[in-house]
Amino acid sequence: MEVDQEQDYRRAMGAFATGVTVVSAARGDGALAGITVNSLTSVSLRPRLLLWCLGDQSERYDLFATAEHWGVTVLGADDEALARRFARAETEAIAPEEAARFDAAPVLRGGVAHFACRTFERRQAGDHLMIIGEVTACRSGPGDGLTYFRSRYGRADALESGSK
Ligand SMILES: Cc1cc2nc3c(=O)[nH]c(=O)nc-3n(C[C@H](O)[C@H](O)[C@H](O)COP(=O)(O)O)c2cc1C
Repeated sequence: MEVDQEQDYRRAMGAFATGVTVVSAARGDGALAGITVNSLTSVSLRPRLLLWCLGDQSERYDLFATAEHWGVTVLGADDEALARRFARAETEAIAPEEAARFDAAPVLRGGVAHFACRTFERRQAGDHLMIIGEVTACRSGPGDGLTYFRSRYGRADALESGSK
């Protein structure tokens, strides 16, 4: 019964289309790592807060659960390979030339938007850690967005300016 309910929940949440992001942070030795995340949610405008949820079974839990500064890159429609890559710990490393410093946070070059965050609060909720970040800087650019819906990647077309 438990398993059925979990599958029902997964399936129902999978019908909630999202964008796809990579959250990035530096390890103690300065090495950069990223993780694919679609739980990103805006929380507050004043102050500017957002949250994402980190699974407590993640091999990268210690890094992201303790990072004080971290970046969010919102992936563009052509970035599916990045989403797949950062969903695996074996390919989590971000080479210096792939990253840019944005305020105090590392972000990926490319993408359609970036957020630099400082951890504001952390709260355990079931098997995930809710990580709330204060946005210290953000920016966005043009381009179509990468989407995730029913376990599949897709594309959200940017409207031409002036069209509906
Ligand atoms: C589209 C997509 C969205 C994901 N969103 C999250 C998320 O919001 N939080 C999270 O902890 N893991 C998320 N994951 C899973 C992680 O990217 C990663 O696959 C998982 O943590 C297992 O790898 P790890 O143990 O090496 O961290 C997502 C994966 C995909 C493909």
